[in-house]
Amino acid sequence: MKGLILTVILGGTVTYVNAIEQSFVKPDKAPIDIKDRATVLRGAVHFKAQCLTCHSMKYMRFDEISQEAGIVPKLMPVWDEFAWGGNPPPDLSLVVKRRSADWVYTFLRSFYLDAGHSTGFNNLVWHNTKMPNPFVGIQGQQVLMVPLSDLQHIRGEKRWSELLELETQGAMTGEQFDDYVNDMVNYLAYASDPSSLEREKIGSWVIGYMVVLFIVLLALSLSYWDDIKRKHYQSSDK
Ligand code: HEC
Repeated sequence: MKGLILTVILGGTVTYVNAIEQSFVKPDKAPIDIKDRATVLRGAVHFKAQCLTCHSMKYMRFDEISQEAGIVPKLMPVWDEFAWGGNPPPDLSLVVKRRSADWVYTFLRSFYLDAGHSTGFNNLVWHNTKMPNPFVGIQGQQVLMVPLSDLQHIRGEKRWSELLELETQGAMTGEQFDDYVNDMVNYLAYASDPSSLEREKIGSWVIGYMVVLFIVLLALSLSYWDDIKRKHYQSSDK
C-alpha cells in the first residue's frame, strides 16, 4: 500500500515536472496588475466568451467580478476523467498559482500550425498539448521557422516570437492580441488569489483600528498614572 501511494505521488510529481520542462522557450514577463479592476473584468469577459465552454472556474463562485462577467456555476463544464482521451480541460481557478502568470501568458500566444499533431496546432511552451488553438481568428496562424527537430537543441535559449512567424493575419494586431491575452491572464491571476484585494482593504481597517486603540489606551494609561501620582502625593502629604 505504502509503495502504491509513493508511486502515485512520485508519478504525479514526475509528470508535472515533465509538463513544465517541455517548454521550448524562455517565458515572457506578463505585465499584469490584479489591482486594476478594469483589466481584470475585461479579462473575465474574454474568458467567458472564449474559454468557459471547456474550462471551469469552480473555486470562484462567489466573487463579484466573475459574477459580473457571467462566469457562473451553471455555465461551467463538468468533464469526467476519460473525456478528451484522458486529458479533459482542467479547472483554471488556481492555474496561475500552479504554473505562474508568465507561463500562461507565453503558452497562450505560442500556438503554431502542426499538421502532424491531432489538433492541427502545436505549442512551444507545452509541446503536444491537447488544447486546441482558440485564437486562430484573432491572432492569425503562426508557423514554425525552424525544423521541429531543432527545438530540442535550442530549448530555453529563445523566445517564442523568435521562432514563430504569422502566416495569416488575424482580426487583431500583435499588440492588441497581447493586451487581450494579458487581460485574461490578469483575470486568472486575480482568480488564483481574489482575497488579496480583500486582504488589502481589511489590512487598512485593521491598522486604523490599532492606531485608534493605541491612542485610547495611551490616554487611559496617562489618566491612571495621574490618579496614582495624585494618590501618592496625597498619602505622602499626610
Ligand atoms: C475546446 C476546448 C478548449 C478551449 C476553448 C480552451 N481550452 Fe484551455 N485547455 C484545453 C485542454 C483539453 C487542456 C489540457 C491540455 C492537455 O492536457 O494537453 C487545456 C489546458 C489549458 C491550460 C493549462 C492548464 C494546466 O493546468 O496546466 C491553460 C492555462 C488553458 N488551457 C487556458 C485556456 C484559456 C485562457 C482559454 C480561453 C482563451 C482556453 N484555455 C480555451 C481545452 C480548451
